[in-house]
Amino acid sequence: MRIIAVTNQKGGTTKTTTTVNLGAALAQAGQQVLVVDADPQADASIWLRQVDKGHAISPSLYEVLTADDLPLADIVRPTTTSNLSIAPCDLRLASAELHLLGEMGGELHLRRAMTGLERFDYVLVDCAPSLGLIVVNVLCVAPEIIIPLQAEYLPMDALVALGETVAKIRQLFNPALRVMGVLVGRFSPTSDVRRDSLDAIQARFGDLMFETIIGQDVRLEEAPAHRLTILEHAPATRSARQFLALAQEVMSRGQ
Ligand SMILES: Nc1ncnc2c1ncn2[C@@H]1O[C@H](COP(=O)(O)OP(=O)(O)OP(=O)(O)O)[C@@H](O)[C@H]1O
Ligand SMILES: [Mg+2]
Repeated sequence: MRIIAVTNQKGGTTKTTTTVNLGAALAQAGQQVLVVDADPQADASIWLRQVDKGHAISPSLYEVLTADDLPLADIVRPTTTSNLSIAPCDLRLASAELHLLGEMGGELHLRRAMTGLERFDYVLVDCAPSLGLIVVNVLCVAPEIIIPLQAEYLPMDALVALGETVAKIRQLFNPALRVMGVLVGRFSPTSDVRRDSLDAIQARFGDLMFETIIGQDVRLEEAPAHRLTILEHAPATRSARQFLALAQEVMSRGQ
């Protein structure tokens, strides 16, 4: 089983889009995939048809992170996509931060709950745009990180703090933690600034950057409103093919 955190503390860098559609692409490739929604915005849970916006779902990751002994496996539900399951959450998850703060060893609460998940090949965790205790919990569990970013002027600014957090967690809790890949998740080659940024990202991250780049695509932007993955909503589009290619890269980077 590979556990992968999709994280970047900057908002809107395509974390949820990447988690949901990479998950669907891995599932289509025959892998058993669990998406864990660790963002109180609950975008992945809404997208994968578990909960309506503003509504609660129970049991959810909130219960896992606030109960003494509730395994993550107990909140796993199937989605309408075969091979793809989800551990959902809702808005209440935001208040789990406070609970974790008051708990001895609160950083490792999620790690203690990671039992009974052997049937999954991949666990993909969609993180909130934050470096709070929930993200820290995720990074204490996941050995691998995917960082999605947009090709824009100085996208690296936000990564300094993330890099420091990763270094600290590696040192204190999770020596195996590593960045598996940096993904350009929404690229439109029409402006020079963006092309220059792409060069800058390439220069900064080298081989860490995925060869696959997800292009700007209106079909991808509208998919969550239809609550369909891109492979269901528009399987013949370029971005659907790009997510299938990304899945192949992720699989080969694990070997
Ligand atoms: N390749 C793409 N082409 C067009 N729109 C995209 C693409 N990828 C993502 N988007 C859109 O960009 C917005 C931000 O994407 P997304 O919600 O995945 O980012 P996020 O990092 O999860 O955001 P947050 O930090 O709020 O959780 C969404 O409206 C999404 O539909
Ligand atoms: Mg998101």
